[in-house]
Amino acid sequence: MHIGIIGTGYVGLVTGACFAEFGIHVTCADRDEEKINALKRGRIPFYEPGLQALVEKNFKQGRLAFTSKVGEAVNSNLVIFIAVGTPPRGDGSCDLSYVEEVAKEIANHLDGYKVIVTKSTVPVGTGKRIKKIIEENRKNNTHFDVASNPEFLREGAAIEDFMRPNRVVIGSESPQASAILQDLYRPLYLLETPFVTTDIETAELIKYASNSFLATKISFINEMAQLCERLGADVHMVAKGIGLDKRIGPKFLHPGPGFGGSCFPKDTRALVSLAEETGTELKIIKAAIEVNESQKRSMVERIKDALNPLEGKTLAILGLSFKPNTDDVREAPAIDIINALSKKGAVIKAYDPAAVPVAKKLLPNTVKYSKDPYEAAKGADALVIVTEWNEFRNLDLGQIMKLLNQPFFFDLRNIYDPEKMRAAGFKYYSVGRP
Ligand code: UGA
Repeated sequence: MHIGIIGTGYVGLVTGACFAEFGIHVTCADRDEEKINALKRGRIPFYEPGLQALVEKNFKQGRLAFTSKVGEAVNSNLVIFIAVGTPPRGDGSCDLSYVEEVAKEIANHLDGYKVIVTKSTVPVGTGKRIKKIIEENRKNNTHFDVASNPEFLREGAAIEDFMRPNRVVIGSESPQASAILQDLYRPLYLLETPFVTTDIETAELIKYASNSFLATKISFINEMAQLCERLGADVHMVAKGIGLDKRIGPKFLHPGPGFGGSCFPKDTRALVSLAEETGTELKIIKAAIEVNESQKRSMVERIKDALNPLEGKTLAILGLSFKPNTDDVREAPAIDIINALSKKGAVIKAYDPAAVPVAKKLLPNTVKYSKDPYEAAKGADALVIVTEWNEFRNLDLGQIMKLLNQPFFFDLRNIYDPEKMRAAGFKYYSVGRP
């Protein structure tokens, strides 16, 4: 089968490379010519473990092609995935202008029956809108179908998530389109991947509901962590104790400085705004967003209260990306936390294994960057772990103790053992543990 993917951002590129790995011929298009030329030279514009090798291999073997002409990704391909960005507007809703532009371009190049599929997270109703745009702009009456096939990839684990998904969701009004998409995902049948086939609106909503539920789970445990701190309870044991109930499940109950990234913050806000347009108030999701904001503020407060006064104190911040194994700093808690701490007069020395170049653009220019955790700790009044990169899990604590000016250690991801840290002489703070 030959397919086209429009948009070579995170979703588009991972999808293209993985389908090519399944033996499908994939043409990836992006109007950004520079990006396309870089991809042809094997350069990936972001960091994702394993992706570089997968792109290189499939490009060399001729199953993955790149073009800056959308038409080339449409002509003679049976399935066209739309994977362009849907950036948030000021009011939390999604800006669909890229999706609409692409729909018009697809209409211009419609040369036979095709299934047009949305892969990016798009507001409920977008599939219908795409259908209308193509109907209005196609040059003749060429038959086509529209479908929704939301992705559930996690950054940093995207290839694994694509190759071994928990489920594949396909939304379409057309049994033919649905059958073609199921055929495309046939390699996953061997793994007995469950397929959810439904209408377009339901598929579109599943994606938002899924991310909003996960975000709510995180805010729930973060709120419990706050309560644990007041009551002297241990949030990890609470998470374990509730998570063993199969109806609750153990995942996404890890407390921390709040969720970030390009998905949870944006999708929760977009769902609230989408619901408001229908006159529905999503109180639970609104609360999850609010708790997330206050969680970040509370991290700043605990550092400030411990170091009182904060002004003039030097803080070694470890981890800038919103989670490990990515250089993505979009809505990363570290960015808000550093900005707030700087505003309160703290001097920041930051280190991250991958995200410094992108983070620099969002942080005050007074922030200094270190080449490793030890250089950051040297002469600092406190060490703050904001993102749980593996290399922070086994720091040489003896050396850190010697390098720090004062033994304050804020572990916002709870990766160290409180008793051991205190025994080692640190003034140790974590989240939701006695
Ligand atoms: C999320 C979803 O997990 C994917 O299924 C979905 O496809 C993706 O959004 C998307 O919509 O594209 P991602 O944003 O890459 O994936 O990252 P996650 O691993 O879900 O983490 C999100 C945030 O929650 C991170 O800031 C992480 O540190 C935080 N988190 C996660 C916690 O604070 N506690 C947890 O227990 C889990």
